[in-house]
Amino acid sequence: MAHLAILEYPDPRLRIRAKPVTEFDAALAQLVADMLETMYAAPGIGLAATQVNVHRRLLVADVSEERNEPICLINPEILTAEGTVSYEEGCLSVPDVFESVDRAERIKVRAHNERGESIEVEAEGLLAICIQHEMDHLEGKLFVDYLSALKRDRLKKKALKRAKKGSGDGESDTVSPAVPII
Ligand code: NI
Repeated sequence: MAHLAILEYPDPRLRIRAKPVTEFDAALAQLVADMLETMYAAPGIGLAATQVNVHRRLLVADVSEERNEPICLINPEILTAEGTVSYEEGCLSVPDVFESVDRAERIKVRAHNERGESIEVEAEGLLAICIQHEMDHLEGKLFVDYLSALKRDRLKKKALKRAKKGSGDGESDTVSPAVPII
């Protein structure tokens, strides 16, 4: 298994729209294993392939407290969405930013599993939020896109300054364990 590098905003590669997965082979299984390892190490509750610079429609998540219920959704599609919920989110690709975003409260998703079989998942609460956040990544969309242009501009300047200061120390100055990093 390998630990993968996570792209950070405003990296333009985060804006690439992912293409469907068509080969359900050993390389895909390896990618899923590597993404899970990377997500757990970060730590985060979800990770989209886009964030590790693989532009295929695939996401992993684990919202369990014991961190032992991994899920993997390949080529996910939302079939139904109900209700609205506003939740403060963070993102592994946008370090140290926590903002409230409106999402559907309950969703039904159709996807493939690692073997290429069709599955349907019903999700609510944090898992529903997480899946919607990761599916946005696959469209090249980030949670900061929901903020006002002014606020986003300020965040972008901060991110660029941070990148200039030297990336690679991997340290974050804010620890906010209450907010899920998706
Ligand atoms: Ni994210």
